[in-house]
Amino acid sequence: EAAASARQDLAGRHVLISAGGTREPLDPVRYLGNRSSGKQGVALAQAALARGARVTLVAANLEVPVPTGVSCVLVGTAQEMLKAMTTAAASADVIIMAAAVADYRPKSVQLGKIKKDEVGDTLTLELVKNPDILAGLSASRRPGQQIIGFAAETEADADRLIALGRGKIARKGCDFLVVNRVGLDAGFGTERNTVTVLDHGGVIVNEASGSKMSVANCILDLIG
Ligand code: CTP
Ligand code: CA
Repeated sequence: EAAASARQDLAGRHVLISAGGTREPLDPVRYLGNRSSGKQGVALAQAALARGARVTLVAANLEVPVPTGVSCVLVGTAQEMLKAMTTAAASADVIIMAAAVADYRPKSVQLGKIKKDEVGDTLTLELVKNPDILAGLSASRRPGQQIIGFAAETEADADRLIALGRGKIARKGCDFLVVNRVGLDAGFGTERNTVTVLDHGGVIVNEASGSKMSVANCILDLIG
């Protein structure tokens, strides 16, 4: 098996990965969510494990199983993910934010089901911004800790896609940004992925296309 024959270049390292998509409750039966399956984050966990790392996976609503041997913290919302990531970050050598975090959450969660006859013909939701987990972890990183973010963009033009990535890594403060074009046909939920990796200065350091496992290994190759 490929996992057993991988070189153990991450032995002794603690790799912390977030995966999946957060869901922000509206009421006891409904949420705001996104289409992340968690496959890329889980592939990263599997690849890091095969390369000898101790792996913690902070998992939000995965559509795929958690690999055996990975220490997993299940979360639902962005705020739960922030708490779990902050706790695990204290001992992590590498942090990879592969999760799709909901940018906004409903300002209030209704304790009972929202009922049509109480709302009427239109329903307006008030949302508040969630904390930026990646930016926060980057701002408070320990010396030597490496932090990798993802960028999900729907921009189809390759140059404009990279320009968006450059702006994003400058704002986030992480070491590398994995830029990923997503659309109704690409990225989320699929078995394959095509990414461009930027370093902190916005320089392209890697381009990978293939199975999410092969993309995961290309990303892990960047860890020094
Ligand atoms: N991220 C995060 N916390 C948030 C939002 C995003 O940690 N509240 C992380 C994601 O896990 C990802 C990176 O930030 O690693 C970029 O996420 P993305 O959605 O592409 O960027 P945003 O900064 O949210 O900007 P926008 O969605 O407006 O493009
Ligand atoms: Ca976002």
